[in-house]
Amino acid sequence: MHMRHSDIEHGPATVKVKYILENPEELNEDGSDTAEHELMAAKGEHLLEVAIEHGINIEHSCGGVCACSTCHVYIENGMDSLSESEEEEEDRVEEAPGLQINSRLSCQCLVEGDGPIVVRIPSWNRNAVKEVPH
Ligand code: FES
Repeated sequence: MHMRHSDIEHGPATVKVKYILENPEELNEDGSDTAEHELMAAKGEHLLEVAIEHGINIEHSCGGVCACSTCHVYIENGMDSLSESEEEEEDRVEEAPGLQINSRLSCQCLVEGDGPIVVRIPSWNRNAVKEVPH
């Protein structure tokens, strides 16, 4: 499904966002099973669109309109640099598997502060998370 982008004009990409993908299909040379991607985001973008634009395919069944919970991620750092969770998101995220205190729906997390932000894409979603070539 085509993803809805945030409709705001974005400024320069100044905020560091690191995405940690659990259990990518291949192990790293050191045997670890996570892949890390350090990206730059602009304020006003949401975490889902930043990922997709850089070839990290987080599942997003509803197209980013807070009507599913497939874009569930964990915010490991920088929660205070993201827009606050609203009631609609809280209701949705409760339906997601593997709910944690730092669970968010990536399509609802607007980058607002200076970061750095660290986002973990959990292993339960690994079959849906694919590296796509640039
Ligand atoms: S893509 Fe459906 S809630 Fe985020």
